[in-house]
Amino acid sequence: MRVAVFNSKPYDRTYLSTANGDRHELHFFESRLTLDTAPLAQGFSAVAAFVNDILDRPVLQTLAAQGIHCLVLRSAGFNHVDLVAAAELGIQVARVPEYSPHAVAEHTVGLILALNRHIHRAYNRVREGNFSLDGLLGFDLHGRTVGVIGTGKIGRNFARIMHGFGCRILAEDPFPSGEITALGGEYVNRTALLQTADIVSLHCPLTPETHHLINRETLQVMKSGAMLVNTSRGGLVDTAALIDALKQGHLGALGLDVYEEEGDLFFQDLSAQVIQDDVFSRLLTFPNVLITGHQAYFTQEALRNIAATTIANLDAFASGSPCPNQVTTDYLR
Ligand code: NAI
Repeated sequence: MRVAVFNSKPYDRTYLSTANGDRHELHFFESRLTLDTAPLAQGFSAVAAFVNDILDRPVLQTLAAQGIHCLVLRSAGFNHVDLVAAAELGIQVARVPEYSPHAVAEHTVGLILALNRHIHRAYNRVREGNFSLDGLLGFDLHGRTVGVIGTGKIGRNFARIMHGFGCRILAEDPFPSGEITALGGEYVNRTALLQTADIVSLHCPLTPETHHLINRETLQVMKSGAMLVNTSRGGLVDTAALIDALKQGHLGALGLDVYEEEGDLFFQDLSAQVIQDDVFSRLLTFPNVLITGHQAYFTQEALRNIAATTIANLDAFASGSPCPNQVTTDYLR
Protein backbone atom coordinates (compact mmCIF):
# COMPACT_ATOMS: atom_id res chain seq x y z
CA MET A 1 0.00 0.00 0.00
CA ARG A 2 1.09 3.59 -0.51
CA VAL A 3 1.02 5.08 2.95
CA ALA A 4 1.19 8.76 3.93
CA VAL A 5 2.87 8.82 7.34
CA PHE A 6 1.96 12.12 9.00
CA ASN A 7 3.65 13.78 11.95
CA SER A 8 6.76 11.67 11.52
CA LYS A 9 9.92 12.47 13.47
CA PRO A 10 13.34 11.02 12.62
CA TYR A 11 12.87 8.27 15.22
CA ASP A 12 9.49 7.28 13.71
CA ARG A 13 11.11 7.00 10.28
CA THR A 14 13.90 4.80 11.60
CA TYR A 15 11.65 2.35 13.47
CA LEU A 16 8.87 2.24 10.83
CA SER A 17 11.30 1.76 7.93
CA THR A 18 13.03 -1.09 9.76
CA ALA A 19 9.72 -2.82 10.57
CA ASN A 20 8.41 -2.29 7.04
CA GLY A 21 11.31 -3.59 4.98
CA ASP A 22 9.92 -3.35 1.43
CA ARG A 23 6.33 -4.36 2.19
CA HIS A 24 4.60 -0.98 1.86
CA GLU A 25 5.55 2.27 0.17
CA LEU A 26 5.93 4.64 3.13
CA HIS A 27 6.11 8.41 2.49
CA PHE A 28 7.04 10.42 5.54
CA PHE A 29 5.55 13.88 6.12
CA GLU A 30 6.75 15.99 9.02
CA SER A 31 3.48 17.92 9.15
CA ARG A 32 0.76 17.19 11.64
CA LEU A 33 -2.42 15.97 9.96
CA THR A 34 -4.90 18.84 9.94
CA LEU A 35 -7.53 20.08 7.50
CA ASP A 36 -4.78 22.17 5.85
CA THR A 37 -2.33 19.29 5.41
CA ALA A 38 -4.86 16.53 4.58
CA PRO A 39 -4.48 17.20 0.80
CA LEU A 40 -0.91 15.81 1.09
CA ALA A 41 -2.57 12.37 1.22
CA GLN A 42 -3.68 12.67 -2.43
CA GLY A 43 -2.59 9.56 -4.33
CA PHE A 44 -2.17 7.38 -1.22
CA SER A 45 -4.47 4.60 -0.05
CA ALA A 46 -3.62 4.66 3.66
CA VAL A 47 -2.70 7.21 6.31
CA ALA A 48 -0.59 6.60 9.42
CA ALA A 49 -1.32 9.14 12.17
CA PHE A 50 -0.22 10.00 15.71
CA VAL A 51 -1.97 11.13 18.89
CA ASN A 52 -1.96 14.85 18.15
CA ASP A 53 -3.20 14.59 14.56
CA ILE A 54 -6.66 15.94 13.85
CA LEU A 55 -9.00 13.16 12.80
CA ASP A 56 -12.39 14.81 13.03
CA ARG A 57 -15.15 14.55 10.43
CA PRO A 58 -13.90 17.33 8.08
CA VAL A 59 -10.38 15.83 7.94
CA LEU A 60 -11.75 12.30 7.43
CA GLN A 61 -14.05 13.59 4.66
CA THR A 62 -11.04 15.17 2.92
CA LEU A 63 -9.06 11.93 3.24
CA ALA A 64 -11.97 9.79 1.98
CA ALA A 65 -12.50 12.08 -1.00
CA GLN A 66 -8.86 11.41 -1.94
CA GLY A 67 -9.34 7.64 -1.83
CA ILE A 68 -7.99 6.93 1.64
CA HIS A 69 -9.69 3.82 3.02
CA CYS A 70 -7.30 2.82 5.81
CA LEU A 71 -6.17 4.77 8.84
CA VAL A 72 -3.54 3.26 11.10
CA LEU A 73 -2.98 5.00 14.43
CA ARG A 74 0.50 4.86 15.93
CA SER A 75 -1.10 5.09 19.37
CA ALA A 76 -3.25 3.12 21.79
CA GLY A 77 -5.69 5.98 22.39
CA PHE A 78 -8.29 6.69 19.69
CA ASN A 79 -10.30 9.41 21.43
CA HIS A 80 -9.10 11.87 18.74
CA VAL A 81 -10.80 9.93 15.90
CA ASP A 82 -14.43 10.48 14.86
CA LEU A 83 -15.18 6.76 14.54
CA VAL A 84 -18.76 7.36 13.43
CA ALA A 85 -17.57 9.54 10.54
CA ALA A 86 -14.84 7.02 9.65
CA ALA A 87 -17.43 4.21 9.47
CA GLU A 88 -19.79 6.30 7.33
CA LEU A 89 -16.94 7.21 4.99
CA GLY A 90 -15.72 3.62 4.66
CA ILE A 91 -12.37 4.28 6.37
CA GLN A 92 -11.10 1.31 8.35
CA VAL A 93 -9.26 2.31 11.54
CA ALA A 94 -6.68 0.31 13.50
CA ARG A 95 -4.55 1.16 16.51
CA VAL A 96 -1.66 -0.22 18.54
CA PRO A 97 -3.52 -1.45 21.62
CA GLU A 98 -0.40 -2.36 23.57
CA TYR A 99 3.19 -1.41 22.94
CA SER A 100 4.74 -1.06 26.34
CA PRO A 101 2.66 -0.74 29.47
CA HIS A 102 5.99 -0.71 31.29
CA ALA A 103 7.11 2.50 29.56
CA VAL A 104 4.17 4.60 30.75
CA ALA A 105 4.05 3.03 34.22
CA GLU A 106 7.78 3.59 34.75
CA HIS A 107 7.58 7.21 33.59
CA THR A 108 4.70 7.80 36.01
CA VAL A 109 6.87 6.51 38.84
CA GLY A 110 9.68 8.77 37.61
CA LEU A 111 7.41 11.81 37.92
CA ILE A 112 6.38 10.77 41.44
CA LEU A 113 9.95 10.26 42.63
CA ALA A 114 11.13 13.53 41.11
CA LEU A 115 8.22 15.54 42.54
CA ASN A 116 8.40 13.99 45.99
CA ARG A 117 12.15 14.49 46.39
CA HIS A 118 12.21 17.72 44.30
CA ILE A 119 14.88 16.28 42.01
CA HIS A 120 13.97 18.76 39.24
CA ARG A 121 14.78 21.63 41.63
CA ALA A 122 17.82 19.97 43.20
CA TYR A 123 19.34 19.43 39.75
CA ASN A 124 19.31 23.17 39.04
CA ARG A 125 20.44 24.15 42.54
CA VAL A 126 23.49 21.89 42.57
CA ARG A 127 24.57 23.09 39.13
CA GLU A 128 24.59 26.63 40.52
CA GLY A 129 26.56 25.64 43.61
CA ASN A 130 23.53 25.90 45.89
CA PHE A 131 23.62 22.91 48.22
CA SER A 132 20.89 24.13 50.58
CA LEU A 133 18.23 21.52 51.39
CA ASP A 134 15.54 24.05 52.31
CA GLY A 135 12.38 23.28 50.37
CA LEU A 136 13.55 19.85 49.25
CA LEU A 137 11.90 17.82 52.03
CA GLY A 138 10.08 14.71 50.76
CA PHE A 139 8.27 11.79 52.35
CA ASP A 140 8.86 8.03 52.42
CA LEU A 141 6.78 6.31 49.76
CA HIS A 142 6.85 3.23 51.97
CA GLY A 143 3.58 3.05 53.90
CA ARG A 144 1.80 5.69 51.78
CA THR A 145 -1.49 5.08 49.99
CA VAL A 146 -1.59 5.26 46.19
CA GLY A 147 -4.91 5.59 44.35
CA VAL A 148 -4.98 4.13 40.83
CA ILE A 149 -7.89 5.22 38.63
CA GLY A 150 -8.05 2.70 35.77
CA THR A 151 -6.36 -0.64 36.32
CA GLY A 152 -5.87 -1.78 32.73
CA LYS A 153 -2.46 -2.74 31.37
CA ILE A 154 -0.66 0.45 32.46
CA GLY A 155 -2.49 0.93 35.76
CA ARG A 156 -1.71 -2.64 36.85
CA ASN A 157 2.00 -2.25 36.02
CA PHE A 158 2.07 1.02 37.90
CA ALA A 159 0.33 -0.55 40.92
CA ARG A 160 2.84 -3.41 40.93
CA ILE A 161 5.80 -1.00 41.04
CA MET A 162 4.24 1.13 43.79
CA HIS A 163 3.44 -2.02 45.76
CA GLY A 164 7.15 -2.81 45.48
CA PHE A 165 7.90 0.49 47.25
CA GLY A 166 5.71 -0.69 50.13
CA CYS A 167 2.69 1.42 49.23
CA ARG A 168 -0.91 0.46 49.94
CA ILE A 169 -2.93 0.33 46.72
CA LEU A 170 -6.49 1.61 46.32
CA ALA A 171 -8.08 1.29 42.90
CA GLU A 172 -11.13 2.25 40.91
CA ASP A 173 -12.18 0.54 37.69
CA PRO A 174 -15.56 -0.69 36.42
CA PHE A 175 -13.76 -3.98 35.64
CA PRO A 176 -11.71 -4.93 38.73
CA SER A 177 -8.58 -7.01 38.17
CA GLY A 178 -7.50 -9.96 40.30
CA GLU A 179 -3.90 -8.73 39.91
CA ILE A 180 -4.68 -5.72 42.09
CA THR A 181 -6.35 -7.74 44.82
CA ALA A 182 -3.45 -10.23 44.67
CA LEU A 183 -1.18 -7.30 45.60
CA GLY A 184 -3.35 -6.66 48.63
CA GLY A 185 -4.95 -3.74 46.77
CA GLU A 186 -8.54 -2.81 47.36
CA TYR A 187 -11.20 -1.56 44.93
CA VAL A 188 -13.14 1.36 46.38
CA ASN A 189 -15.38 4.05 44.94
CA ARG A 190 -13.86 7.28 43.61
CA THR A 191 -14.76 9.35 46.66
CA ALA A 192 -13.13 6.90 49.07
CA LEU A 193 -10.04 6.71 46.84
CA LEU A 194 -9.65 10.49 46.60
CA GLN A 195 -10.25 10.99 50.33
CA THR A 196 -7.60 8.47 51.33
CA ALA A 197 -4.81 8.47 48.74
CA ASP A 198 -1.56 10.40 49.24
CA ILE A 199 -0.88 9.99 45.52
CA VAL A 200 -3.58 9.73 42.85
CA SER A 201 -2.57 8.47 39.40
CA LEU A 202 -4.85 8.42 36.35
CA HIS A 203 -4.70 5.47 33.95
CA CYS A 204 -8.17 5.33 32.41
CA PRO A 205 -9.03 6.32 28.82
CA LEU A 206 -10.58 9.65 27.91
CA THR A 207 -14.27 9.10 27.23
CA PRO A 208 -17.33 11.36 27.68
CA GLU A 209 -17.70 9.71 31.10
CA THR A 210 -14.12 10.35 32.23
CA HIS A 211 -13.80 13.88 30.78
CA HIS A 212 -12.70 16.22 33.63
CA LEU A 213 -13.03 13.47 36.22
CA ILE A 214 -10.64 15.60 38.25
CA ASN A 215 -12.47 18.90 38.59
CA ARG A 216 -13.18 21.55 41.25
CA GLU A 217 -15.44 19.22 43.26
CA THR A 218 -13.28 16.09 43.10
CA LEU A 219 -10.13 18.12 43.89
CA GLN A 220 -11.75 19.29 47.11
CA VAL A 221 -12.47 15.64 48.01
CA MET A 222 -8.74 14.86 47.68
CA LYS A 223 -6.63 14.82 50.81
CA SER A 224 -4.97 18.18 51.45
CA GLY A 225 -1.37 18.09 50.22
CA ALA A 226 -1.88 15.00 48.04
CA MET A 227 -0.04 14.52 44.75
CA LEU A 228 -1.87 14.07 41.44
CA VAL A 229 -0.24 12.47 38.39
CA ASN A 230 -1.78 12.29 34.92
CA THR A 231 0.06 10.32 32.26
CA SER A 232 -3.13 9.24 30.51
CA ARG A 233 -4.96 12.00 28.61
CA GLY A 234 -5.13 15.75 29.26
CA GLY A 235 -8.91 15.88 29.10
CA LEU A 236 -9.22 13.80 32.26
CA VAL A 237 -8.48 16.89 34.34
CA ASP A 238 -9.84 20.44 34.43
CA THR A 239 -6.58 22.39 34.23
CA ALA A 240 -8.03 25.69 35.47
CA ALA A 241 -9.30 23.90 38.58
CA LEU A 242 -5.84 22.38 39.12
CA ILE A 243 -4.27 25.83 39.06
CA ASP A 244 -6.71 27.10 41.70
CA ALA A 245 -6.08 24.03 43.90
CA LEU A 246 -2.31 24.58 43.58
CA LYS A 247 -2.66 28.27 44.47
CA GLN A 248 -4.71 27.37 47.56
CA GLY A 249 -2.02 24.88 48.57
CA HIS A 250 -4.65 22.16 48.65
CA LEU A 251 -3.01 20.18 45.84
CA GLY A 252 0.45 19.32 47.11
CA ALA A 253 2.15 18.40 43.84
CA LEU A 254 1.20 17.80 40.22
CA GLY A 255 2.87 15.63 37.60
CA LEU A 256 1.64 15.79 34.01
CA ASP A 257 2.76 14.08 30.84
CA VAL A 258 -0.39 15.12 28.97
CA TYR A 259 -2.31 18.36 28.65
CA GLU A 260 -5.76 19.01 27.24
CA GLU A 261 -4.48 21.58 24.72
CA GLU A 262 -1.21 19.79 23.99
CA GLY A 263 -1.90 19.55 20.24
CA ASP A 264 -0.41 22.98 19.54
CA LEU A 265 2.53 22.56 21.94
CA PHE A 266 3.97 19.12 22.31
CA PHE A 267 6.32 17.18 20.01
CA GLN A 268 7.99 20.31 18.66
CA ASP A 269 10.75 22.74 19.66
CA LEU A 270 9.08 26.02 20.63
CA SER A 271 12.00 27.25 22.73
CA ALA A 272 12.51 30.34 20.56
CA GLN A 273 8.82 31.29 20.57
CA VAL A 274 6.46 32.94 23.02
CA ILE A 275 4.01 30.36 24.36
CA GLN A 276 0.54 31.75 23.75
CA ASP A 277 -1.25 29.35 26.08
CA ASP A 278 -1.56 31.29 29.37
CA VAL A 279 -2.99 28.35 31.30
CA PHE A 280 -0.04 26.15 30.40
CA SER A 281 2.41 28.99 31.11
CA ARG A 282 0.88 29.47 34.57
CA LEU A 283 1.31 25.77 35.32
CA LEU A 284 5.01 26.08 34.54
CA THR A 285 5.46 28.70 37.27
CA PHE A 286 4.71 26.36 40.19
CA PRO A 287 7.70 24.78 41.92
CA ASN A 288 5.63 21.71 42.75
CA VAL A 289 4.53 21.02 39.17
CA LEU A 290 6.53 18.79 36.84
CA ILE A 291 5.47 18.52 33.21
CA THR A 292 6.85 16.32 30.46
CA GLY A 293 5.67 16.59 26.86
CA HIS A 294 3.85 13.29 26.27
CA GLN A 295 7.01 11.23 26.51
CA ALA A 296 5.81 8.50 28.87
CA TYR A 297 5.56 6.03 25.98
CA PHE A 298 8.95 6.98 24.55
CA THR A 299 11.21 3.95 24.98
CA GLN A 300 13.09 1.86 22.42
CA GLU A 301 10.84 -1.11 23.14
CA ALA A 302 7.67 0.94 22.66
CA LEU A 303 8.84 2.46 19.36
CA ARG A 304 9.79 -1.00 18.08
CA ASN A 305 6.37 -2.42 19.03
CA ILE A 306 4.45 0.58 17.65
CA ALA A 307 6.24 0.21 14.31
CA ALA A 308 5.77 -3.59 14.15
CA THR A 309 2.03 -3.41 14.97
CA THR A 310 1.45 -0.48 12.60
CA ILE A 311 2.99 -2.45 9.72
CA ALA A 312 1.02 -5.59 10.72
CA ASN A 313 -2.19 -3.51 10.70
CA LEU A 314 -1.33 -2.27 7.18
CA ASP A 315 -0.61 -5.88 6.11
CA ALA A 316 -4.03 -6.99 7.36
CA PHE A 317 -5.87 -4.14 5.62
CA ALA A 318 -3.88 -4.66 2.39
CA SER A 319 -4.67 -8.39 2.27
CA GLY A 320 -8.29 -8.00 3.38
CA SER A 321 -7.72 -10.35 6.29
CA PRO A 322 -9.26 -9.59 9.71
CA CYS A 323 -7.28 -7.00 11.65
CA PRO A 324 -7.28 -7.80 15.39
CA ASN A 325 -6.49 -4.17 16.20
CA GLN A 326 -9.34 -2.65 14.22
CA VAL A 327 -11.29 0.02 16.10
CA THR A 328 -14.96 0.29 15.22
CA THR A 329 -17.96 2.20 16.52
CA ASP A 330 -18.57 -0.81 18.82
CA TYR A 331 -15.90 0.77 21.04
CA LEU A 332 -18.22 3.73 21.63
CA ARG A 333 -20.90 1.58 23.32
P1 NAI B 1 -6.41 -0.26 29.07
O1 NAI B 1 -7.55 -0.25 28.12
O2 NAI B 1 -5.63 -1.52 29.25
O3 NAI B 1 -6.94 0.17 30.53
C1 NAI B 1 -7.82 1.22 30.77
C2 NAI B 1 -8.60 0.87 32.03
O4 NAI B 1 -9.39 2.00 32.39
C3 NAI B 1 -9.54 -0.32 31.84
O5 NAI B 1 -9.34 -1.30 32.84
C4 NAI B 1 -10.93 0.30 31.97
O6 NAI B 1 -11.89 -0.57 32.53
C5 NAI B 1 -10.62 1.49 32.87
N1 NAI B 1 -11.67 2.50 32.88
C6 NAI B 1 -12.49 2.85 31.86
N2 NAI B 1 -13.37 3.80 32.29
C7 NAI B 1 -13.07 4.04 33.59
C8 NAI B 1 -13.62 4.89 34.57
N3 NAI B 1 -14.66 5.68 34.29
N4 NAI B 1 -13.07 4.90 35.81
C9 NAI B 1 -12.03 4.08 36.10
N5 NAI B 1 -11.47 3.24 35.20
C10 NAI B 1 -11.99 3.23 33.97
O7 NAI B 1 -5.47 0.94 28.64
P2 NAI B 1 -3.94 1.17 29.00
O8 NAI B 1 -3.10 0.54 27.95
O9 NAI B 1 -3.70 0.81 30.41
O10 NAI B 1 -3.82 2.74 28.80
C11 NAI B 1 -4.47 3.65 29.68
C12 NAI B 1 -4.41 5.03 29.08
O11 NAI B 1 -3.07 5.49 29.07
C13 NAI B 1 -4.83 5.12 27.60
O12 NAI B 1 -6.24 5.25 27.47
C14 NAI B 1 -4.10 6.33 27.10
O13 NAI B 1 -4.97 7.43 27.21
C15 NAI B 1 -2.94 6.49 28.08
N6 NAI B 1 -1.64 6.35 27.42
C16 NAI B 1 -0.72 7.37 27.59
C17 NAI B 1 0.52 7.29 26.99
C18 NAI B 1 1.57 8.35 27.18
O14 NAI B 1 2.61 8.34 26.49
N7 NAI B 1 1.40 9.30 28.09
C19 NAI B 1 0.87 6.14 26.12
C20 NAI B 1 -0.14 5.10 26.09
C21 NAI B 1 -1.36 5.23 26.69
